[in-house]
Amino acid sequence: MSAGIDLENVCCDFGSFRAVDNANVSIKPGEFFSFLGPSGCGKTTILRMVSGFIEPTQGVIRIGGKDMRGQRPNQRPTALIFQNLALFPLMTIAENIGFGLEMRGVDKATRRAKAEELLRLVDLPGAGDKMVSQLSGGQKQRVAIARALAVEPQVMLLDEPLSALDLKLRQHMRAELRAIQKRTGVTFIYITHDQGEALAMSDRVGVMSHGRIQQIADPRDIYNNPVNGFVASFVGENNVFVGDLGTVSDGMASLSTPHGSFRARIGQGVSGKGVKLYVRPEHTIISDFAPAENGVHGTVQEVSFEGAFIAIHAVSDSGMKMVAELRNDGSAAIPSIGDQVWMGFDAQRAAILPDANTKG
Ligand SMILES: Nc1ncnc2c1ncn2[C@@H]1O[C@H](COP(=O)(O)OP(=O)(O)O)[C@@H](O)[C@H]1O
Ligand SMILES: [Mg+2]
Repeated sequence: MSAGIDLENVCCDFGSFRAVDNANVSIKPGEFFSFLGPSGCGKTTILRMVSGFIEPTQGVIRIGGKDMRGQRPNQRPTALIFQNLALFPLMTIAENIGFGLEMRGVDKATRRAKAEELLRLVDLPGAGDKMVSQLSGGQKQRVAIARALAVEPQVMLLDEPLSALDLKLRQHMRAELRAIQKRTGVTFIYITHDQGEALAMSDRVGVMSHGRIQQIADPRDIYNNPVNGFVASFVGENNVFVGDLGTVSDGMASLSTPHGSFRARIGQGVSGKGVKLYVRPEHTIISDFAPAENGVHGTVQEVSFEGAFIAIHAVSDSGMKMVAELRNDGSAAIPSIGDQVWMGFDAQRAAILPDANTKG
């Protein structure tokens, strides 16, 4: 019921512009895989190639091990869901869900039974006789998913399906979508520019920039071990120090910057001057005393209460703005505006990383 998808050296050119550059990924049967990246990085183009609306300029796409070259969209075991879903307003919900089956000559009683089954799956039992206009945005989205599932695709392709919904509903629908995917076991390829969505729902995430896949990993690894500065910055916040690389040994390196000399993990392919060290605000520690290493002295400028955490904005004596996030669990003393503080970080929690993987 579900199929894996392989992309091998897949490129897509629009004239002289390369929208997707040498994409390689193996998505497993039944996996929830997301492509995450900013607008224009090539996410939709990948989905259009998988669904068969455009052919790759180069490379091979396989679904369930079968080369898809020359296979039209309706010959592929895929279903596509967009942000602006097009439910038919003059049909009932059940008729909407049964539409694809009707096109395939399935009889009315069978269509109705299938619609009822799918409405239970998407948590809208008994809604079959309602009209589209009677449903909320989130309910319409669930009907669109039920309609796509009706034809029993092996792969669901979802292109920013939640982006038209408001924040609360979007967060609720994340869990819903994930649950629907688990219940059906269908392979999901999900596209989003929202890092929270990608991290919360996916088994694995492919982070993209300028047509290139930068990193493929599970959500924790993407956040904790980004391979480059693009991934580190697109997925989460950082304090970033720029400096010149010193000695490197055992995966650790020293960096000399205008704000002090630091030690951190070092990623692949970094060398020379003007390189960047990344440390997360939640790994930035505030103390009254200078830490043994990686300390920066400064003054608190703003204390921002965010609920679950407190953001301390400070500026170092050397003029660099930094942010530290303290958990609101009573474990740490909260400094006040104007306090003199030391900011620091564990060398293992900071990384010197190369910039994005871009066209050479
Ligand atoms: N049919 C097309 N003709 C020319 N350029 C296109 C076409 N489709 C997409 N592009 C360009 O390719 C790039 C990637 O687009 P797209 O895959 O839609 O990005 P995303 O979905 O990540 O926002 C963009 O720069 C876009 O303008
Ligand atoms: Mg898009």
